[in-house]
Amino acid sequence: MLQIYRLSALLRRYGIPLLPRFLYLINRILFSVVLPPTVKLGRNVTFAYQGLATVVHARAVIGSNCYIGPNVIIGGRSGQHAVPEIGDDVFIGAGARILGPVKIGKGATVGAASLVLEDVIAGSTVVGAPARSIENARKEAPSGVSS
Ligand SMILES: CC(C)(COP(=O)(O)OP(=O)(O)OC[C@H]1O[C@@H](n2cnc3c(N)ncnc32)[C@H](O)[C@@H]1OP(=O)(O)O)[C@@H](O)C(=O)NCCC(=O)NCCS
Repeated sequence: MLQIYRLSALLRRYGIPLLPRFLYLINRILFSVVLPPTVKLGRNVTFAYQGLATVVHARAVIGSNCYIGPNVIIGGRSGQHAVPEIGDDVFIGAGARILGPVKIGKGATVGAASLVLEDVIAGSTVVGAPARSIENARKEAPSGVSS
């Protein structure tokens, strides 16, 4: 899947018509992944299960050494032009949704099934919908509630 994407991105950079779009469609049919050739993808990125059910916006940026679980959406939000920028070494759990003009800092972790609508600080872990950092959620837990 990634090789097909890399080839489509390369052909697009050289201005080859139609073929990048054809390769994009091959990925979509074979692996149920939407990964347009215009996506800026770093090195050594892992798409779990060959990107099964994952959708990445055409203008999204994904850094190097990231792990992207299955069924992840990295996409836009209505009325907002900017789309997510994922830093290096980011882990994105299965089914997470990262939407709109958000930046995910280097080394951050996005929990499975999270809905991320705001920036995530480098190195932090966020979970839930909308996603909040695990550390803040613990601090804000009512007294007497053990965590
Ligand atoms: C986010 C994650 C990395 C956190 O792991 P962790 O640091 O070991 O955290 P814990 O399991 O100790 O959980 C800490 C708290 O966050 C909650 N939490 C953990 N993951 C959560 C998630 N995805 N959504 C909502 N809450 C979550 C826990 O319930 C716990 O809450 P508590 O403190 O109130 O008890 C992990 O839970 C996760 O989502 N991993 C991704 C798994 C995945 O996608 N695998 C791929 C399958 S194909």
